[in-house]
Amino acid sequence: MGKKTDIDWSKLGFDYIKTDFRYISVWKDGKWDEGKLTEDNMLHISEASTVLHYGQSSFEGLKAYRTKEGKVQLFRPDRNAARMNDSCDKLLMPHVPEEKFIDAIMQVVKANIDYVPPYGTGATLYIRPIIMGVGHNIGVKPAPEYIFTVFCMPVGPYFSGGLKPCKFIVQDEYDRAAPHGTGKQKVGGNYAASLQAHAKAAKDGYADCIYLDPATHTKIDEVGAANFIGITKNNEFVTPKSSSILPSITKYSLLYIAEHYLKMPVYEREVFVDNLDEFKEAGACGTAAVITPIGAIDYEGKRHVFHSETEVGPTIKKLYDILYGIQLGDVEAPEGWIYEVK
Ligand code: PLP
Ligand code: COI
Repeated sequence: MGKKTDIDWSKLGFDYIKTDFRYISVWKDGKWDEGKLTEDNMLHISEASTVLHYGQSSFEGLKAYRTKEGKVQLFRPDRNAARMNDSCDKLLMPHVPEEKFIDAIMQVVKANIDYVPPYGTGATLYIRPIIMGVGHNIGVKPAPEYIFTVFCMPVGPYFSGGLKPCKFIVQDEYDRAAPHGTGKQKVGGNYAASLQAHAKAAKDGYADCIYLDPATHTKIDEVGAANFIGITKNNEFVTPKSSSILPSITKYSLLYIAEHYLKMPVYEREVFVDNLDEFKEAGACGTAAVITPIGAIDYEGKRHVFHSETEVGPTIKKLYDILYGIQLGDVEAPEGWIYEVK
């Protein structure tokens, strides 16, 4: 991809594009430096960095949206800051204070403002904050130094087709996380552990694989890099409760939207994989996925179809319209959800 002016926004997928500026800050001797924007998209780090050997790293994902009036806004970046700090606690990394986290994102979006896709193109600016252990260290222990960096790029849909239903497969022989491991943190190792299962699902023609709870393999945990949501035949909004899934900001936003905007009963509870018949519609939700309707789930050689394999169901569509409407500024947001980039 060349200059921003060459970008055909409507054709974007979910791919790396080098934008003009990224933010970088270093933690050393017990404190963060001020941080700065740089044009250099390469990191120069010690060969003995814990991120390289022992996976001491966490990342976040959030988006900037352009409104109809041309303003640029973020969706709940404070929640990403809190989640990154929870990951930092788990991996013994220093916190990134919320103000520093949000300020870094604001700086990066402003410095790359021409890459924020226009309203109505279906594309958005994806923002990737990362913290990693660096410096010289060889024993299995926390790093002496850390880098916090934020970069961004315009993206289109994560699962091809946007609101077109996708099919997924439950591959019982893979887990992405352990029952008391790092599943509920956003740490690099979880994604390394998912690559093989994802590759197999993709080779077999699926959008991604569904992970079951690692302790009993009876309940739905996650849908690849997204959370599961289901609409029961009684019109309730249900999403799995488990100690090994990533607490999706989109999922908690949808729980709120279903309850307060659509007046639906909402439940965060166990979802048994042999009881998928309870759902008339289902979806995979996340920052990258937004809401991707789940057309079908294959499990033990049997196909379970939700609503339709080709058309989005009415409730998933309503949830999508309200969520994306809030993100784009077309629908009034609950207080504190939207941060304008000025
Ligand atoms: N589950 C996993 C494993 C993820 O990587 C993500 C992406 O962040 C999600 C769920 C969705 O979370 P969020 O809605 O906060 O983006
Ligand atoms: C996100 O939805 O932001 C994710 O992090 C998903 C994925 C690209 C890892």
